[in-house]
Amino acid sequence: MPIPKLYNKRVKHILPLVLSIICITVGLNFYLSENIHQFLLENKALNQNKLSTFNPRTSTSALFSYVEDIIQYNETELIHIGTKDGIYFHWDDWVDLSPGNKFLDRYRHDFPSGQCDSLLTKYASVNGYSLESYNKKVLRGMANLYCLKDIPRKVFITTDDSMVEVPIVGKKRFGVNLLGPRTRDKNQLVESMMTIEQNKDRLGFRSRPLKRLQPIVPVDAKEFIFSPEAEIFKLQEKLNNETITENELEYLQFLEYSNDYLVDNSDTYFKYPWITSDLFRGHSHHFAYPFFKRYIGDRERQSVVHHMVRAWFQFAEMNGFVSWVNYGSLLGWVYNGVNMPWDTDVDVQMPIVQLDRMGRQFNKSIIIENPRYGNAKYLLEVAPTYIKQGNGRNFIDARFIDINSGLYIDISALSHSNFKPPSNAVPNQDSLGTMMVHCKNWNWHTLEELLPLRHSFFEGGSVYIPNNVSSILSRKYGPDSFTTKLRFKKHNYQADISMWVPDRICKYPPPTNIRFNEINGGLTFEGACNKEYLQDEYHIIRQCSARHKMLNQDIDRPIDYDIGEWGELPILRKDAWDYYNDINANNVNHDRWAVSHEIVGKIHENKTKKM
Ligand SMILES: *[C@@H]1O[C@H](CO)[C@@H](O)[C@H](O)[C@H]1NC(C)=O
Ligand SMILES: *[C@@H]1O[C@H](CO)[C@@H](O)[C@H](O)[C@H]1NC(C)=O
Ligand SMILES: *[C@@H]1O[C@H](CO)[C@@H](O)[C@H](O)[C@H]1NC(C)=O
Ligand SMILES: *[C@@H]1O[C@H](CO)[C@@H](O)[C@H](O)[C@H]1NC(C)=O
Ligand SMILES: *[C@@H]1O[C@H](CO)[C@@H](O)[C@H](O)[C@H]1NC(C)=O
Repeated sequence: MPIPKLYNKRVKHILPLVLSIICITVGLNFYLSENIHQFLLENKALNQNKLSTFNPRTSTSALFSYVEDIIQYNETELIHIGTKDGIYFHWDDWVDLSPGNKFLDRYRHDFPSGQCDSLLTKYASVNGYSLESYNKKVLRGMANLYCLKDIPRKVFITTDDSMVEVPIVGKKRFGVNLLGPRTRDKNQLVESMMTIEQNKDRLGFRSRPLKRLQPIVPVDAKEFIFSPEAEIFKLQEKLNNETITENELEYLQFLEYSNDYLVDNSDTYFKYPWITSDLFRGHSHHFAYPFFKRYIGDRERQSVVHHMVRAWFQFAEMNGFVSWVNYGSLLGWVYNGVNMPWDTDVDVQMPIVQLDRMGRQFNKSIIIENPRYGNAKYLLEVAPTYIKQGNGRNFIDARFIDINSGLYIDISALSHSNFKPPSNAVPNQDSLGTMMVHCKNWNWHTLEELLPLRHSFFEGGSVYIPNNVSSILSRKYGPDSFTTKLRFKKHNYQADISMWVPDRICKYPPPTNIRFNEINGGLTFEGACNKEYLQDEYHIIRQCSARHKMLNQDIDRPIDYDIGEWGELPILRKDAWDYYNDINANNVNHDRWAVSHEIVGKIHENKTKKM
């Protein structure tokens, strides 16, 4: 009998060993096949795009015609997706939920305005964290958006010069038949956007002008001091003397609930999907549940980040919030002024008092990208646990989520508190006038190294960065982590082109004499290690890196420059949906991500520098 043998001692020891070897081999195999991996991801994206009838321009078109109807007629009857006060919203009209069709089609048919029954609601309400298979998780996410996810409170239309705020009045689905017939192409949407800009003052809606970022931003230390108890006390006094407004009362109730109960008992607020096949690689940990519907390759992610960073800083500046790029994103900035190609998200920080105000004014806002540049829509969501240090499950206080892909910018608030910083947290913390602040994940900073914030270009667009970059990065990643470290995550930094090149493409730069194409300034095919990918990528990055090199030789002290004179660089990466759609529709005969959409608008008018 062979079976009892399994129980003998030697086998008992060998079995785990064999299993480990299998695991390592499989892991190694995955590791080596990164090339194939990227190819498969792109294939999956193309396929999903092909199978889906969803077009992100459909909801934008419906919203734009709604606004134009108000401009033209000012009559409620004509406004089919809303009332004079705002629009109806259903996630099914605004996000591609087609990966959930298997379940959702029946509901769409039976209840066209988007209701659910208890069965689907129950299916949708399972915690995003519970460990499940990929397919099941995607279905759940789609059902969650369809049935459960709160609808936003308002939508911001970005025009060339301002943002127009359209309230959302209720939940209702229209479906492609109602929204669809008027879907416009990009040029029509741009026309419509300009009409809205010209007539925005005739609408009953609020609008705000876009603003140019400042060269230097001092931030008052008070912005880092927030006490929920003090706020509650103030509001209770107002309640007692009956001067409290409705909004303040709502805020008071929120603060009391969050302070007394939620912060200490809350589950993680921003969930990523937890997937069985992804336990070790953790690819899914960089997506916001329930928006996740597939893994995303490096170049698509770089495109999403490229568009998203600009949209965030534009939105924040317009509303008077400061935030700054930090950590991995800042490390990327040091090298060549763009995010590192493997970096899965963007980290920004902001003062707690500002985040508190942002939560009250803008929680659950959708921001629509200017149709000149892309089809992105972002959801701004603020966690109810932001008010103080909690039970260790919530480090992230807000998110700016690309609702098409589920990729996001993580926003964390920095605050001053009574916790004592560890002695190694920051050097010379005893020096006079140095205040310590930290995020909920215990990253400490002195205000001295953060402030004043300063302007820089990241991904070609205007952002803020902390004052003392080298002090922050050397503490976080070690003194040799930046500029001297040239190998990272299976990439090598090729200084002659200022780019991180995947080792699978080439580990060393080809000789300079064959590298560059004299005629167009790009890379020759040989110079790009025989990969069109690298030619395309160089085309995108070289303007950003050239500018970075010119301004930031000293990463802590940039040369003196006029932001308006330099201007924003064009949008250099193609919108992801356009990219896949153009290939599937045979609109293009190549697969290039590089584009160049000049940034238009009053605040960008006086640009004189070429680069
Ligand atoms: C439309 O009606 C609202 C209120 O009924 C009014 O305030 C607004 O000025 C009108 N707009 C136009 C373009 O007539
Ligand atoms: C009510 O209380 C608030 C908060 O303390 C105070 O600012 C306000 O002046 C008071 N109003 C009246 C009418 O007493
Ligand atoms: C923001 O909105 C979400 C979704 O409705 C809600 O869960 C959260 O508590 C809100 N955050 C704040 C700070 O009120
Ligand atoms: C940055 O910080 C380091 C050490 O903390 C300090 O030596 C340096 O002078 C600072 N640089 C600037 C520009 O403040
Ligand atoms: C651009 O230049 C014009 C004329 O010199 C000036 O009136 C305008 O304010 C400038 N715009 C910006 C955004 O600086």
